[in-house]
Amino acid sequence: MMRKYTDEELIARGLSPDMPKHVAIIMDGNGRWAKERGMIRTLGHRAGIERMREIIRHSSDIGVEALSLYAFSTENWKRPKFEVAALSALFLEYFTKEIDELHANNVRMIALGDTTKFSPEIHNAILRGAEKTKHNTGLKLNVALNYGSRDEITTAVKSIACDVKNGTLDDDDINYELISDRLYTKGLPDIDLLIRPGGERRLSNFLLMQAAYAELVFTDDYWPDFTNEKYEEAIKEFQKRTRRYGGLK
Ligand code: IPE
Ligand code: IPE
Ligand code: MG
Repeated sequence: MMRKYTDEELIARGLSPDMPKHVAIIMDGNGRWAKERGMIRTLGHRAGIERMREIIRHSSDIGVEALSLYAFSTENWKRPKFEVAALSALFLEYFTKEIDELHANNVRMIALGDTTKFSPEIHNAILRGAEKTKHNTGLKLNVALNYGSRDEITTAVKSIACDVKNGTLDDDDINYELISDRLYTKGLPDIDLLIRPGGERRLSNFLLMQAAYAELVFTDDYWPDFTNEKYEEAIKEFQKRTRRYGGLK
């Protein structure tokens, strides 16, 4: 880990050193943010990427172990061609320019989702980034690109069915752990805190299984306005909650 703040410093900021291990964020509201400023939606996405940079950095600094960011859903292909192209161009730029910086900060980056649906340039830039950073021991960064929970679960079910059919897996051995191991998030802890800025109160097909017991925090700030301070507010809210997992406390 490359935590920047000591326990005392975190406490001075009103945070408990007991951080959520895995934070997931639905980066929503870029388009409305731009529209309110009389700008085209694309500029909102650009501002969103800036915010993403800062939130990644801050997650490392405060000692979050894993961060999953929803950047593009399996349903986002329904958007106008122009917007998909603009987003793709931003992703290419991001994964070309940003990997060195992530690597320098000891971040391990992977993508969640089937990135082969993007252009080979984007797909390869992501693969190169994942390869370059795979031994890093700091923040585990997951960028969800062409990600959807239903797709992820369907793929896992198919691969399990295939193994049962081949005789390499006994149906009695199918349990949540085995299913978990076939999700994009394999090896990562389940989501502790899921944050959705942008005003909507829904999950939009993000990490449905992994967030089964996540604490949910919704805020009305558009993603480009979701500052490090707002992020810390969400974590403080999380730290006030009592997690029971169905039991009693
Ligand atoms: C989130 O912002 C980014 C992506 C879904 C790619 P939106 O583009 O959904 O912004 P709004 O919700 O329309 O404001
Ligand atoms: C969810 O936002 C997907 C991402 C942030 C990448 P959307 O804007 O696509 O979700 P809906 O359409 O409001 O549910
Ligand atoms: Mg949206």
